[in-house]
Amino acid sequence: MTATIPFEHITVLREELLDSLGLTHGDYAVDCTAGGGGHTQGLLERVGKAGKVIAFDRDPWAQDVLQKRFPAELANGQLELIAKPFSEIHAELVKRDWVGKVQGLCADIGVSSPQLDAAERGFSFAKDGPLDMRMDQTQGITATDIVNEWSVPDLTRLFRDYGEDPQARRIAQAIERERAKKPFERTLDLADLIAQSVHYKERSRKHPATRVFQALRIEVNGELRELEALLNDVGSSLKPLGRCAIISFHSLEDRLIKNAFRALAEGHMKHIGKSLPFTAAQLDELKKYTIIKPFPKIPGDIELNANPRSRSAKLRVIEKKGE
Ligand SMILES: C[S@@+](CC[C@H](N)C(=O)[O-])C[C@H]1O[C@@H](n2cnc3c(N)ncnc32)[C@H](O)[C@@H]1O
Repeated sequence: MTATIPFEHITVLREELLDSLGLTHGDYAVDCTAGGGGHTQGLLERVGKAGKVIAFDRDPWAQDVLQKRFPAELANGQLELIAKPFSEIHAELVKRDWVGKVQGLCADIGVSSPQLDAAERGFSFAKDGPLDMRMDQTQGITATDIVNEWSVPDLTRLFRDYGEDPQARRIAQAIERERAKKPFERTLDLADLIAQSVHYKERSRKHPATRVFQALRIEVNGELRELEALLNDVGSSLKPLGRCAIISFHSLEDRLIKNAFRALAEGHMKHIGKSLPFTAAQLDELKKYTIIKPFPKIPGDIELNANPRSRSAKLRVIEKKGE
């Protein structure tokens, strides 16, 4: 894997996330989004040589970096890397007989700084590159496919639902007009078109293409579907008193996490119906999880100053109750 820039990522909420998992020597831990290995390193230290960590990342560049960072831990079996999407967590835990045995499960959702900064990955509206945006460039559709092929109503829905862009329709129509002349291939062609076609405050700190690029990235990588799949498997993965900690960076993800954790902690009361007498089995299902306070945790001033990209990070933690 050759990259045009070095892989430099500052780990967000590192100590807060690690402290929240309650790990001790000998535990099993899972990092769903290993990236440059900042959280993975902390997991390894906390579970010690008697423990084990498995770490997912779907990006071959991250896999390459992780192989180089942890040669000893990979050689002695303390760490195992999984080059797959984290939605496959359940199958991977089954293979290792880890279901219901994980003490610490963490995820730091989204893309890493080097993925964003490498122009050739196509995530950035500020750098010219192919309009790609795939975390795993061996798989799936690219942002180019979506921008050139989707209908105006579908693009509008995408930009509105995943980008929360109030000018979704106007942008979708501008894209349709432009691609009739020449199909989109480059990030800056799209970013410039958006800047020309929307009303925005000149002095706004956000580039006018921010929301559309976010929406395309979420769709290309199936990010919300991935997160939903992971949230579904939190309960079966953890051991009693095991914890799951997830960092997210935008409101769509945070809402999914907040609601999923609430459903686990409240025992799906809504589905059972409050006025009915509960059977023993139903009561058993109630309130098996505790949301850890304070929630959500956000970066403090020192971290924000050192790493402005951490500004929208939110950490939520849930614990499975003891038996
Ligand atoms: C924010 S970075 C994680 C950084 C890491 N915590 C660190 O300290 O270096 C997110 C990483 O997760 C990976 N990723 C995102 N979604 C994924 C998914 N559904 N399955 C597997 N890896 C994913 C990305 O490729 C990226 O490397």
